[in-house]
Amino acid sequence: MNNKALFTPCKIGSHDLSHRVVLAPMTRIRADAKTLAPTSRTIEYYRQRASDGGLLITEAIHISPEATPVWSIYPAVRESASHVPGIWTQTQMAEWRKVVKAVHEEGGKISCQLLHTGRVAQPAIAEHPLVKNKDYPLPPVSSSAVAIEALNEIDNQYNWDQASTPPRQLETDEIERIIEDYKKAAKQALAAGFDYIELHAAHGYLIDQFICDGVNQRTDRYGGSIENRCRLLFEIVEALVAVMGENRVGVRLSPIVNDPKTGKPKQIYFGVTCSHPTATFRYAISGLNAFPLAYLMLTEPRVGGLSLDPKSETAYSHPLSNQKYRELFDGVLIGAGGFTPQSAAAAVEDDVYDMIAFGRWFLANPDLPERIRNGNPLNVYQRETFYGGGDAGYTDYPSWDELVNSFSRKYGLMEQGEIGVTLKKEGSAVS
Ligand SMILES: Cc1cc2nc3c(=O)[nH]c(=O)nc-3n(C[C@H](O)[C@H](O)[C@H](O)COP(=O)(O)O)c2cc1C
Repeated sequence: MNNKALFTPCKIGSHDLSHRVVLAPMTRIRADAKTLAPTSRTIEYYRQRASDGGLLITEAIHISPEATPVWSIYPAVRESASHVPGIWTQTQMAEWRKVVKAVHEEGGKISCQLLHTGRVAQPAIAEHPLVKNKDYPLPPVSSSAVAIEALNEIDNQYNWDQASTPPRQLETDEIERIIEDYKKAAKQALAAGFDYIELHAAHGYLIDQFICDGVNQRTDRYGGSIENRCRLLFEIVEALVAVMGENRVGVRLSPIVNDPKTGKPKQIYFGVTCSHPTATFRYAISGLNAFPLAYLMLTEPRVGGLSLDPKSETAYSHPLSNQKYRELFDGVLIGAGGFTPQSAAAAVEDDVYDMIAFGRWFLANPDLPERIRNGNPLNVYQRETFYGGGDAGYTDYPSWDELVNSFSRKYGLMEQGEIGVTLKKEGSAVS
């Protein structure tokens, strides 16, 4: 067996998982355009990636119209605009139930990632038939009326290339309504049968916009000190645990890490910056111990571009940044971002993380846990079909069995040891 450390059992709450290779949450922008619900293709996609005792995390699922981005000003996905799923209508909930059922039939567990995008959402959602002439609160809202700045120099995909509508600052007494929207979404997720929900508090979205003082300029009890900026995170977690029960709520955070050489953040999401990131995230992470969480997932800040050739992508050879947070969190810690099968096994072996979430490699390899276990070559992901479209690049990546039994080769193959190999050879890997 290869990468043995990934194939030991792991417990999350009352569930015994049989391996540590997790499907990372990935937006695919293939929801039904009218209902913003998953489709039969979505069911197939998750079923293909489910394994006995394996954990899948869904793509970001939006908790309300106000939370829903219309990605038309986001360069990579302009074509497919708003086809991202929600869980705020009965139809959406019922369709998610089918996804959950399919995953359970394969013996897998599934966590529902709940998202409010804050100032990333735009007013155009008001024109959607599900929203038009209804009295839903509309976006964009944020901790403060601080707009996302269009960056000329786009060094990663988490930025926009044109100006966005400035957000409205949420009133103090509106926060309760936001928490209520999260609770409603969690009740829907519970009704759909999800094993866990995951609060997406990372990547520059609403909760990150409260945690980080580059955006949060409030003077009420949700702004100013680190304690105040983390208050919304903790209040939402408390509300979600009250709905879901113990050990069924996960949280995702993306601690900002400054590069010691340049003093600049290694990765910035949607322009969200923070003046004292280590102190801020130390407080947020330790504070989460107060809740009976299923898990905490941390993003390693080392994936830039999401589009480079995997042989030469620097992410795969950058060192880990989040080890310092390990000792602060008492529960199951999942790492995500730039892992190869070998570096994932090493991170578990070295006790930096308990489980590893794979994004792009799992997107392209429906049987990723088995491929890693057997050391078989991996299908190479195709960047152009990450977001939007049909089956191509979604449900048509072959499993290893399908591959060896067919003559056609739609996708390239790469040996696991070849990932990041060009950099290693050139000696340019960052240590
Ligand atoms: C197509 C795509 C969509 C993504 N969507 C989400 C998302 O909805 N929620 C989230 O938390 N992260 C999202 N991410 C980030 C992934 O969860 C993961 O952190 C990232 O792919 C880096 O991991 P990798 O190097 O294994 O691909 C997305 C990544 C990709 C490639």
